[in-house]
Amino acid sequence: MPADPGPSADPHAPSACPADIRCPRCRDCAGPGSALPADRVAKADPAAAADPAALADPAAMLAGGAQVAELERAFATAHGAAHAVAVSNGTTALVAALRAHGIGAGDEVITTPLTFVATLNAILEAGAVARFADIADDLTIDPARLASLVTPRTRALLPVHLYGLPAAMAEIYEFAAARGLTVIEDAAQAHGARSGAVPVGSAGTAAFSLYGSKNITCGEGGIVTTADDDIAWRLQLLRNHGMRQPYDYVLPGYNYRLTDLQAAIATAQLARLPRINASRAANAARLSDGLAGLPGLVRPAVPPGRVHAWHQYVVQVTAAAPIDRDQLGKCLDAAGIDARPYYPALVHDYACYRDHPRVIIDATPRACRAVREVLALPVHPMLTSGDIDRIVSCVRTALTDR
Ligand SMILES: Cc1ncc(COP(=O)(O)O)c(C=O)c1O
Repeated sequence: MPADPGPSADPHAPSACPADIRCPRCRDCAGPGSALPADRVAKADPAAAADPAALADPAAMLAGGAQVAELERAFATAHGAAHAVAVSNGTTALVAALRAHGIGAGDEVITTPLTFVATLNAILEAGAVARFADIADDLTIDPARLASLVTPRTRALLPVHLYGLPAAMAEIYEFAAARGLTVIEDAAQAHGARSGAVPVGSAGTAAFSLYGSKNITCGEGGIVTTADDDIAWRLQLLRNHGMRQPYDYVLPGYNYRLTDLQAAIATAQLARLPRINASRAANAARLSDGLAGLPGLVRPAVPPGRVHAWHQYVVQVTAAAPIDRDQLGKCLDAAGIDARPYYPALVHDYACYRDHPRVIIDATPRACRAVREVLALPVHPMLTSGDIDRIVSCVRTALTDR
């Protein structure tokens, strides 16, 4: 039995580290009470959020104060946007964006069925009706599938930059402009992504999340970027009860405020975004090299001109593979590697939405197939070279040793 180091000992000091367990702080040990089993490759690493220096400012205890203003300035600059308005999370960012554009009861919004549930919940919270277009090979919404869904009630398109890959925005904006539709980009997963020279969030109105799993985070938080001065003004009102001056309410709003404490952390994170995304891109490239040539395994492809933020690295295990997606997931799990179906079901494929009066379930055969094939592998910046070798070797063995 090792000697008890006593309460004052630093659990992260090298001598206290069980050699085969890693933790976010020292990367070498789990520390007392850690849930990380020995030698497991985690799907995400919260150490990416550790910016204690950002909390040194004693003024960082307010909501909507100087730190929020600084985050908004820095975020708008980093994303080439005219305005950025910080809110409490990515879901409220979407709701505020929809409402700021006047979308609500009776309006139809077309989105993708392969997304996180927040995309759908935001449409419903705004009072609108959700419809779904099928996806393209890159797993984002297919612009060619939009036309058949447009009705006189259609008001907005809500493409999702899934896994950090920008959707086909040039085609989507062109389609929307020709029909007078609003575009709201769900950029929750796509900080720092670009379509050609155009940063995600700069062209129209986009909603970002700062949740703990995202490329940059402050635990909970969100930001709406917009090119439109009036929309920015409405967003500022909506997030703070529609209040123009103390007790002067000009429209019914919400408390969607971000605190200065969170903003200070997010601003520090934002400064690291280029390095974080570069590290994710390098990990993705190594995974794609290592996973080349496997039967039935489709690696994520980046269409020309698009810059991926690599929030997730998602492979597709197709019918041509010797085992299916769930079996591969089990092999990885048994090898101590976290891999997840991302997402396990289409967003409307739950009992609570199936008979929902404002959810119209359109046929999306490609999305139906993809949702059975997608598997997200770890790609976060805390992965070591050895972790990537382990992931590659495990997938290769599972798909070839049959
Ligand atoms: C595609 C997508 N949209 C919206 C959201 C909502 O963001 P939040 O969790 O910050 O509310 C998320 C968060 O995971 C997301 O992945």
